[in-house]
Amino acid sequence: METDGSGFSPKLLGPVLLDSSTIQKRVHELGSQITSDYKHKSPLLVGILKGASIFHSDLVRSILLDLSYDFMAVCSYGSSTASSGEVRILKDPDRGLEGKEVLLVEDIVDTGRTLHYLVQNLKAREPNSLKVVALLNKPSRREIDVELDYIGFDIPDEFVVGYGLDYDQHYRNLPDIHLLRENGAV
Ligand code: IMP
Ligand code: MG
Repeated sequence: METDGSGFSPKLLGPVLLDSSTIQKRVHELGSQITSDYKHKSPLLVGILKGASIFHSDLVRSILLDLSYDFMAVCSYGSSTASSGEVRILKDPDRGLEGKEVLLVEDIVDTGRTLHYLVQNLKAREPNSLKVVALLNKPSRREIDVELDYIGFDIPDEFVVGYGLDYDQHYRNLPDIHLLRENGAV
């Protein structure tokens, strides 16, 4: 990956797919929906590090309930733009999930392999309920069927960065979601 010396690689950054105000509006819609679906309940929102951290922090602030939140960290083996589906848990939630209303917060569902693994793993911990919210969904890339309860945006088969999503750990801090362009491509 070519960089300008600062570690950043502006050549790879493509056009904006979803700008920050579009993202914020949708996150608030999801928050309102979750608020009404979990009325009188205290869900536990488990964000998947690192990609979902920014979405998670905006989403929890748009849910008007007595919720709690936690994080898991996973690493999937594979290249920087394709996951192999082999997932390893690096960090578990601090407390057990038994009897809890768990809402898993993911950044993006691509082949579905990471989420499939996570859902199987978390179901075994016997939460009272387990639902999934994903900011982005690439349905055309699905290899394993996974149930998504809340989806921010369906997007085409393009690699995207920004708003927490990375390419080789870069671009997570961008407020908009951009397409990634290979060097030389428009
Ligand atoms: P899956 O296991 O193929 O569904 O991949 C899910 C994981 O791959 C996500 O949690 C992301 O970490 C990563 N990923 C998939 N597509 C993209 C993308 O377009 N941009 C950034 N990360 C992605
Ligand atoms: Mg991820």
